[in-house]
Amino acid sequence: MNHVRRPASPDLLAALEGRRSVSAAALAAPGPDADETSRLLAIAARVPDHAMLVPWRFIVIEGEARAELGALLADAYRAGNPQMVPEKREKFAGIMSRLFPAPLTVVVVSRPVGGTMIPQFEQELSAGAACMNLLTGAKAMGFHAIWVTGWAATHPEACRLLGVGEGERVAGIVHVGTAAGEEPGERPRPDVAALTTRWAPPD
Ligand SMILES: Cc1cc2nc3c(=O)[nH]c(=O)nc-3n(C[C@H](O)[C@H](O)[C@H](O)COP(=O)(O)O)c2cc1C
Repeated sequence: MNHVRRPASPDLLAALEGRRSVSAAALAAPGPDADETSRLLAIAARVPDHAMLVPWRFIVIEGEARAELGALLADAYRAGNPQMVPEKREKFAGIMSRLFPAPLTVVVVSRPVGGTMIPQFEQELSAGAACMNLLTGAKAMGFHAIWVTGWAATHPEACRLLGVGEGERVAGIVHVGTAAGEEPGERPRPDVAALTTRWAPPD
C-alpha cells in the first residue's frame, strides 16, 4: 500500500540548491530584527541531537557589541604577538577589530556532555548542524550568511573574550546580513556522482 506523500516544497529546494555564502565583509544591513533573530535561533536549535543532550549554545553579537568585542580581540592579538613585525601585527589587529561587520553574528558553541554513551564526535556534529540551520534559516528569511572560524574561534584568549568557557569550543561563527554588492556566482562543486557509491557486499 502506498502512503500519501507530503507535497514538495519548491521554495525550500530552491533555497538549498542555490545557497551561497557571502563573505562577512560584504554583509551589511538590513539584518534580522529581534523577532527574526529569535526565530532564527529556534531554527538553529531544531537539529538532530542524539539523546537530547543539547550539546551547543549560542552567543549573539550585534549592535555596539560588535565594535566593542572587535577592539578587545585586536588588543588580544597585539598582546599575543609581540614578536611580529609591527606593520604586520597592526594589519592583523585591524582585521580583528573589524571581525563583526554583519548586523548579526551568532557564535555556535559546542559543549559536549560528558558521562554519556553518546560520543563527543556525534555531539560536535549536532553543533555543526546548528550552524548549517542558521545558514539555511537565514537564506529562507531572505538574508545572506557565512559560517567561519579562524583565529577568534580557536585562540584561547579570543575564546575567553567571546565568552567560551572550559570544555567548550567554537563550532562556528555565523554572520548574517544582506549582501552589500552583487551576490556571488556559483563556485565549482564536487562531482557528487564520483563521491557516491551504491553499497555492494564486500569481496
Ligand atoms: C567549520 C567551517 C569553518 C569555516 N571557516 C571559514 C573561514 O574561517 N573563512 C572562510 O572564508 N570560510 C570558511 N569556511 C567556508 C565557508 O563557510 C563557505 O563554505 C565557503 O566560503 C564556500 O562558500 P559556499 O558555502 O557558498 O559554498 C568554513 C566552513 C566550515 C564548514
